[in-house]
Amino acid sequence: MTRIFVMTNHKGGVAKSTSATNVAYGLVKVLQQVNAPNTRVLLIDTDSQGHGSLVTTGVSDHGRDHSLYTVLMADRKDASAVLSECTVTSEWDEDLHVLPAASLLEGAERELMGVPGAPYRLSQPLQQIAHHYAAIVIDTRPSFSLMTEMALLAATDALIPIEPRYLETVGLQSVINKIHDIREGWRHQALQVSGIIVTKMDKRVRGHTELLENLLAHPVLGKLVLGIIPVNEAVAYAHHAHRSVFEYDPRCSASQAYAELVGELAKLMVEKVGA
Ligand SMILES: Nc1ncnc2c1ncn2[C@@H]1O[C@H](COP(=O)(O)OP(=O)(O)OP(=O)(O)O)[C@@H](O)[C@H]1O
Ligand SMILES: [Mg+2]
Repeated sequence: MTRIFVMTNHKGGVAKSTSATNVAYGLVKVLQQVNAPNTRVLLIDTDSQGHGSLVTTGVSDHGRDHSLYTVLMADRKDASAVLSECTVTSEWDEDLHVLPAASLLEGAERELMGVPGAPYRLSQPLQQIAHHYAAIVIDTRPSFSLMTEMALLAATDALIPIEPRYLETVGLQSVINKIHDIREGWRHQALQVSGIIVTKMDKRVRGHTELLENLLAHPVLGKLVLGIIPVNEAVAYAHHAHRSVFEYDPRCSASQAYAELVGELAKLMVEKVGA
């Protein structure tokens, strides 16, 4: 079964999109390096801001007829075919495919509110095509909206990017609770919290170091820390250039940290979902 990673945190600006896009590309590269039989990875952008779509495809708003919005609004019997039609090849690598966002996704939540089965409008068509991909990575918007619920219901592995700041780490528990609510409330047992990604870590800032030490020492949360990404200007420059940080500067500290994270996720991919 294909692992479906979802980057989620209702806090804005914690590097969800940066992590989703670079992890998706990084997984493609690892799969290619090991000559895996299937090297394709699908990135799904559920955020109407479309940042993930912008950097990987050059366009942030793919509109009414060529985006995730189209899939959500399609007749259920056609939804998986529509999903395949709306998926585009990224500019980063031909094995990195993107189901892109549209600004209309903002309104889609209102349009679908109260529609029976609305929370499953992503997971159902995705289940039918997931086997085409070695992994799927979903980027979410900074809120626990219906759109994020749809993403969580479609996923097997929740990854939580957080910045090493006090309020972020306090909010971490509420993110984990929300994921557990989805798992239990919707009986979506395949979903697990698979990792915390500490982002924009600045070792020179004492508060960052203390919070990271506390997090790592925590008996439960400490074991979940899967990656520590340093603050690094190359990330912002890579965004401007619409490139992955790996390609922009393979030797920079963020590339090396994301490569380690991708290695951890690749290990998860060879384990059984739910193990
Ligand atoms: N390791 C890093 N070092 C420096 N800047 C970073 C790093 N990671 C992300 N950023 C910057 O932080 C900002 C927010 O990143 P990003 O858009 O990925 O966050 P997000 O969680 O997806 O935001 P939103 O909640 O708005 O969707 C961007 O300007 C990005 O360039
Ligand atoms: Mg984002």
